[in-house]
Amino acid sequence: MPYALITGASGGIGLAIARELASRKHDVILIARSEDQLRKHAEEIRKQYGVSAEYLALDLANPNASITILEWATSRNFSIDILVNNAGFGSWGKFHEIPESEFRGMMQLNMIALAELCRAFLPQLLKQSKAYILNVSSTAAYQAVPTLSLYAATKAFVLLLTRGLNWELKGTQVSASCLSPGPTSTGFIDRANLQAMKDRAEKFSMKPEEVARIAIEGMYARKPEIIPGFTNWLSAKLAEIVPKFVPEQIAANLYKTKG
Ligand SMILES: NC(=O)c1ccc[n+]([C@@H]2O[C@H](COP(=O)([O-])OP(=O)(O)OC[C@H]3O[C@@H](n4cnc5c(N)ncnc54)[C@H](OP(=O)(O)O)[C@@H]3O)[C@@H](O)[C@H]2O)c1
Repeated sequence: MPYALITGASGGIGLAIARELASRKHDVILIARSEDQLRKHAEEIRKQYGVSAEYLALDLANPNASITILEWATSRNFSIDILVNNAGFGSWGKFHEIPESEFRGMMQLNMIALAELCRAFLPQLLKQSKAYILNVSSTAAYQAVPTLSLYAATKAFVLLLTRGLNWELKGTQVSASCLSPGPTSTGFIDRANLQAMKDRAEKFSMKPEEVARIAIEGMYARKPEIIPGFTNWLSAKLAEIVPKFVPEQIAANLYKTKG
């Protein structure tokens, strides 16, 4: 049986998506850097859902990551019918003060690895009777976000790439959906150095399990865009129709507080 390959599946939204798919009896492959976490979660998923759960520990910011994953899967005869590009991170701060490693690493992970994985796996997705790509963006994709400028730009890339891909794939059995969550209770805020936002974000945060359920329902319905939660949906849609400075000013006020 084909597998769902999920990146960033050692925790947060990626792990919740892997569990949601496994609960629907889909075999899964978990990818992230933390081998111990991957081993532990794969074992739990096997026991809890009775599906096959494999894992590969690797750094997706490595320029050869997509080739390594494709070769690893091919060498084990794992075929893929669902590709979930979820791994990603943000880094709060002034654009020119983001550390060099984070600056490049964010673009490499959020955009390049995601695009390369779509490209590497599309030939075999097109051979399946039904197949799906789910790329994880953010509500930040719908507007500029001062002090998260680079992150928002990487997520706008994901949104436009996925929408374009979905059009290109019309008439085939493969669809591409873009998931754009708003605040979600995961390790994201700590990783983004956004601790000052934590209390406020937690009030509005969705649970990763809820985001994952809505994401997988939307993916199977072949929706081009999935924005979980009414408030998130409304703010993303308003950002598309009101003058750009309005949501930008709101974001500037919201994110300036740290330190
Ligand atoms: N949480 C939110 O509020 C929120 C809102 C909008 C969008 N998102 C998006 O949702 C996606 C998932 O984030 P999350 O909230 O679940 O955050 P998270 O809890 O920090 O999870 C991120 C996942 O990505 C993996 N990862 C990070 N860097 C990696 C690398 N270089 N190579 C391989 N795997 C890597 C992490 O595992 P390892 O550390 O083990 O590698 C982890 O499994 C991201 O694309 C994020 O931008 C999150």
